[in-house]
Amino acid sequence: MKIDITHSGITPDLGAAARANELLHNGEGAGNDFLGWVELPSSISDGELDAITREAERLRSKGTVVSVGIGGSYLGAKAVIEALSNPFAPAEVLFAGQNLSEDYTKELLEALAGRDFSVVVISKSGTTTEPAVAFRLLRAELERRYGTGAKERIVAVTDRERGALKTMADREGWPTFVIPDDVGGRYSVFTPAGLLTIACAGIDIKELAGGALDMERLCKDGGGPAATYAATRNALYAGGKKVEILAAYEPKLTYIAEWWKQLFGESEGKQGRGIFPASVNYTADLHSMGQYIQDGERTLFETVLSVAQPAAHVAVEHDPEDLDGLNFVAGRRLGEINHKAEEGVRMAHVDGGVPNIRIELPRIDARNIGSLLYFFEKACGISGYMLGVNPFDQPGVEEYKRNMFKLLGKPGY
Ligand code: PA5
Repeated sequence: MKIDITHSGITPDLGAAARANELLHNGEGAGNDFLGWVELPSSISDGELDAITREAERLRSKGTVVSVGIGGSYLGAKAVIEALSNPFAPAEVLFAGQNLSEDYTKELLEALAGRDFSVVVISKSGTTTEPAVAFRLLRAELERRYGTGAKERIVAVTDRERGALKTMADREGWPTFVIPDDVGGRYSVFTPAGLLTIACAGIDIKELAGGALDMERLCKDGGGPAATYAATRNALYAGGKKVEILAAYEPKLTYIAEWWKQLFGESEGKQGRGIFPASVNYTADLHSMGQYIQDGERTLFETVLSVAQPAAHVAVEHDPEDLDGLNFVAGRRLGEINHKAEEGVRMAHVDGGVPNIRIELPRIDARNIGSLLYFFEKACGISGYMLGVNPFDQPGVEEYKRNMFKLLGKPGY
């Protein structure tokens, strides 16, 4: 993976970033009881990864797997599965509990009507409303269908000892996997919270974790490329660039951007501070958001996720008539045209006052995606400390819940 800040206009303060990185390693910064993710890739054993893979194989052998969770208990798995799957032959993994939509839930239950399924229910707190509601419905459906055999089709991923989900799992004897106490939801993709669902999609989680380990090592001393990214974006923010747009040129990376938005938004958006994380899919969004980015309010900078090598080989055909005037690209691969689009967009946006950071992945595979996710986690921790916030809490998320529970008449509210 390469990071290029040539077009950001910034000389980053790598010393400050290295000091922030040091806080992540010596545990002297805010939120230091949530630093379990920092050395997670080097502490996961092959035995743990094998146990997760075996459980995933067992569930896969029983049909579709429904993964129930929200936020950090959803987005990491969704992002990795989308990045590594063929969109026209999607994995047999469906998601629930990431919304409260009646229609989504009904349509999911209808989709499951003709197929056998199992449920992986993921909630660190074990009390989050959205997954709890979806799980209650799915569990009832499993029990209607399979009777006492339902318990062979439920796996819980939750806290070691606390929460309603843990209580239910103990009582019912469901297999459980633990989300460590010192790993917050949005940093939990390399715990069973992410890995079990990812393995259920048939993805090699050892490769994914191996990629994360490569990046853990690279970003250990001084923060490596994560420090460069964190320091550059903080300098841009200090100079008035309040919105960071993560732009991907591969549709498979759409949910990587969704995961990234949660990671940075929940970690940095507090005390009236923080870059607003947004995302676009290019080239599609050049035909919608392109105008604003080129020409709207100048508070934006772009971080581009670029993939050096497509997995496929598709070239534009030659047409003797050339009625569409496209023969100037005949014989050229779509990947090359995509890269030229990226270069042209970068030139236009930088000229228009939108600084550019470029992150290049060699290709989209499990190892590189593992590296990328860990890179962003490390950068987020460093960046949050540079900004002067605790990147590991999320007090604002509780505000809406109090109102919702009161409106719904939950006892005690
Ligand atoms: O990052 C976070 O902590 C949150 O987004 C949580 O992941 C999300 O609220 C889900 O929480 P839980 O796993 O406790 O159900």
